[in-house]
Amino acid sequence: MPDTLTKLTYQTFQQSKNYFGLAHKMLSTRLMNMISPVQRQAKPISTELLLNLQGRLNNLLEVDWQDAERGVYPTSLLFDNPWEDFFRYYPAMWMDLPQTWERVKQKKHQEFSPDIQIDGYPSYYVQNFHHQTDGYLSDFSANLYDLQVEILFGGSADAMRRRILAPLKAHVEALQTSLNPRRIRVLDVACGTGRTLKMIRATLPQVSLYGTDLSPAYLRKANELLSQIPGELPQLLQANAEELPYLDNYFHAVTSVFLFHELPAFARQQIIEESFRVVKPGGVFIICDSIQISDSPELEPMMDSFPETFHEPYYKHYITDDLVERLQKAGFVNIETQVHFMSKYLIARKPF
Ligand SMILES: C[S@@+](CC[C@H](N)C(=O)[O-])C[C@H]1O[C@@H](n2cnc3c(N)ncnc32)[C@H](O)[C@@H]1O
Repeated sequence: MPDTLTKLTYQTFQQSKNYFGLAHKMLSTRLMNMISPVQRQAKPISTELLLNLQGRLNNLLEVDWQDAERGVYPTSLLFDNPWEDFFRYYPAMWMDLPQTWERVKQKKHQEFSPDIQIDGYPSYYVQNFHHQTDGYLSDFSANLYDLQVEILFGGSADAMRRRILAPLKAHVEALQTSLNPRRIRVLDVACGTGRTLKMIRATLPQVSLYGTDLSPAYLRKANELLSQIPGELPQLLQANAEELPYLDNYFHAVTSVFLFHELPAFARQQIIEESFRVVKPGGVFIICDSIQISDSPELEPMMDSFPETFHEPYYKHYITDDLVERLQKAGFVNIETQVHFMSKYLIARKPF
């Protein structure tokens, strides 16, 4: 397909996902207001803010397209969509809404059915994040998670995740001049259902991949996704990222996507320090997470309402936290930051 046609197809595909997400949110909010109304003081988003968001989304898609065009990752990644999951689980999302609304109404944020094992997890983790049924602790939740995130971000979640790939690839390519790629180890901390690992595999087909997460159900889902890809299977391990089960200086690169806003401050620091410990001198740690007030003050009204609307108990602190200072405190240097749409990126190096 000629490039202009592929680009147009990509833009149309993304725009359709965006409209679908908007339609889903409008319809589900209307239904909620009819069936299970909740008193909320969320301010409506101004036209100016909406235009700003549309501009940021367009910029993200342009960078995503350009990275694919210059060969950072295959163009096919731009069209990778979990269609099978969509048709299988989208109806389940609707069926689940009434009990989600009930939890919202009753302000129940730590509700788990008795058959879900919650012992042994850090208390900050045992939450219905995003008002999700079962929190992160069931196969049901793991099956719905990617759909929910896609709807939340109007189909741009993967495009935001992909922004870690260019700095990661640049780092790995520099190593490949003297190292066999199979001996290069990359860890994704809090890998969830494995979407980032899938993208890293497409970008760096030969490196050895590792993923950890606290949720056995999300790791099962990640295993299901990653085992469909030809090539070496990433090694997945259940672990608290505060105590990574790896040797010091083991990985050439560590990544983490959408984790830090879901942690209390002490765990944020501890996980940064663990990442520093397991990454090799000269290695890189790349974080992708929500924007913060300091980099996107114009979006403060949205950031203010996000924690209540989506039950994100640590978000309020997160948006004013100084992540660069935390990384420096752990020992990282040469820290770069970037912002794309609703996410920010920190690329930090461990000194030699
Ligand atoms: C918002 S999800 C992000 C998942 C995935 N990285 C993505 O891009 O969709 C947060 C993930 O962090 C995991 N998590 C939260 N706290 C953790 C901790 N202390 N150690 C390991 N994983 C944790 C959760 O189980 C969940 O899979």
